[in-house]
Amino acid sequence: MRIIAISSGKGGVGKTTLACNLGLAIAEQNKRVLMIDGDLGLANVDIHFGVRPMHHLGDVLQGKSIKECITPLMKNIDLIAGGSGLVELTHLNAFQRRELINQVQDLQFSYDYAIIDTSSGIYEHVLHLNAVADECIIVLTQDPSSFADAYAMIKVLHQKYKLQNFKVVCNQMKGMRGEQLFIKFAEVVERFLSVRLSLLGSLPFDENLQKAQQQQRTIMRQTTNSPAAQIFREIAVELVAESDLSGAHNSFSENTSQRTSGLAAIFKPATGHA
Ligand SMILES: Nc1ncnc2c1ncn2[C@@H]1O[C@H](COP(=O)(O)OP(=O)(O)O)[C@@H](O)[C@H]1O
Ligand SMILES: [Mg+2]
Repeated sequence: MRIIAISSGKGGVGKTTLACNLGLAIAEQNKRVLMIDGDLGLANVDIHFGVRPMHHLGDVLQGKSIKECITPLMKNIDLIAGGSGLVELTHLNAFQRRELINQVQDLQFSYDYAIIDTSSGIYEHVLHLNAVADECIIVLTQDPSSFADAYAMIKVLHQKYKLQNFKVVCNQMKGMRGEQLFIKFAEVVERFLSVRLSLLGSLPFDENLQKAQQQQRTIMRQTTNSPAAQIFREIAVELVAESDLSGAHNSFSENTSQRTSGLAAIFKPATGHA
């Protein structure tokens, strides 16, 4: 199972929109996708898919098996919903942590990809989610605060977790191409931090995305031939091609110097300071 974390410094930039559509686009390629709603404050992946999950990850803490907490979405794509109970994940005792890790490990052979939608901002659990991911995707917009916050996020992930590779998606672009924004951003980031950034894709500001969301439909399902849906597909094709090339990661048994040891780290208490 390859883990993809989607983050940003700032909220409202399109993380959840990207996570959901990318999930669908990867599932379209006949890969099994598990969406994990890691936004503890504002869990809303379920809303984008128009489902009402019976259970969420917080229920696992109450003794439910993680398999019972999976909400099927469509062919090849399932969800572990977020929920208010998730806040407890940062305050687990050793026994609870072990139990949760075991449960998540049970899923690793059931899916090809886990896509984690995170909350905005530099919180410990968001950093952990990125630290265990095989791919960190940062969503960037033209908004100057998005620029500054994305920089801050990358800086902390690099300095604290030694992450070096980030993929950037430029979103909500107006009157400027994503490539231009990316070059500007990469110049600043790479001047001060020894990290590598690559542009994964760029989406124009498109009010159809908002309309789709208001109707609790992702654009990939709503208007499958829209320009935005095509871009999500291109991004998915690139990600899948890349991971097929590098060989699927098994995040549980691997422990590279670039990151903490697998998904287990999600549930570990934080060390150091952000
Ligand atoms: N490319 C885009 N063009 C126009 N609106 C967008 C675009 N991407 C996302 N949005 C809208 O921006 C708002 C915030 O998106 P969301 O995915 O919830 O952001 P986040 O998860 O980062 O907080 C939503 O109303 C969404 O429909
Ligand atoms: Mg969100």
